[in-house]
Amino acid sequence: MNKPFRTAAVLGAGIMGTQIAAHLANAGLTVHLLDLPAQSSDKNDLVETAFKKALKLSPPIFFTKKIAHRVILGNFEEHFHRVADVDWVIEAVVEKLDVKQQLMQQLETVIRADTIVSTNTSGLPIQAIAEGRSLSFRQRFLGTHFFNPPRYLKLLELIPTSDTNPDVLKRMQWFGRSGLGKGVVIAKDTPNFIANRIGMYAVMLGLQAWTTQGYTIEEIDALTGTLVGRPKSATFRTADLVGLDTLLYVIENLYPAIPNDESREVFRAPEVLRKLVSTGTLGAKTGQGFYKKQNQQILSLN
Ligand code: NAI
Repeated sequence: MNKPFRTAAVLGAGIMGTQIAAHLANAGLTVHLLDLPAQSSDKNDLVETAFKKALKLSPPIFFTKKIAHRVILGNFEEHFHRVADVDWVIEAVVEKLDVKQQLMQQLETVIRADTIVSTNTSGLPIQAIAEGRSLSFRQRFLGTHFFNPPRYLKLLELIPTSDTNPDVLKRMQWFGRSGLGKGVVIAKDTPNFIANRIGMYAVMLGLQAWTTQGYTIEEIDALTGTLVGRPKSATFRTADLVGLDTLLYVIENLYPAIPNDESREVFRAPEVLRKLVSTGTLGAKTGQGFYKKQNQQILSLN
């Protein structure tokens, strides 16, 4: 049960995938980090940046060795077969159910019979991601929801389904705590689980306060951040960090998933968010979100 993971594959070298890979490498694992072919070559900088930050900010226990050599970059087309050699596969691709489902189908044909597969989805139903897979696959499948930035946000939500083998969950619980230094909480497979459902609610109310009540972005970040004892990166800075495209996917997935929830309307995608995403204003990953990276210039409503 208390068996450490030695090798992993992280699928998706975006904001979360690179950082999760860095975190695992810091914890001593050898990690294959894979993405779409067109994107993986220019992901090198991103990967390196994530590593540098991880080295600087992760708890000292993870710092004993240089980690770069433990992460092996590759692309889905040429290097997908590498997942056959790993103990744990973490899916961290775009927040779209059909993309994740397709990846699971592909994975099932390649992985070992004892490999554990998890998804880093922000809120899609875990059970649905593994729909159509064999019982043996589903028994080794669960949600492992890391929080951004994983190098210093300690929370790791584990989301088993009704098929997840209890031993798989126990192993992940043990390794999350002792191997990765996380605070592990077991969450139910409900839309957006626990922390992200609450977090999204706060972000959506912050957006509403900005668009309809005349508060500035800075005021809302101050009110929801340092002034109430939370980190500087509160509502809008957090949204920039998450990525406005991902934020939009998350609420667009959530809204139809909670038809009878009395708080549902809070999660209706605001027009301003759609507009920002459609113009490529995606947050820190593009250098411009609610804040502009270079000079901290703040977006105005008009
Ligand atoms: P991202 O947009 O930075 O990266 C997504 C990656 O998926 C990209 O590198 C892209 O090349 C790849 N991708 C896109 N379409 C694909 C396809 N058809 N097949 C395979 N790969 C494809 O996204 P991010 O932020 O890293 O999110 C990844 C996952 O982690 C999502 O499920 C998201 O909801 C979740 N998550 C995100 C957090 C955040 O703060 N950004 C926090 C916690 C979870």
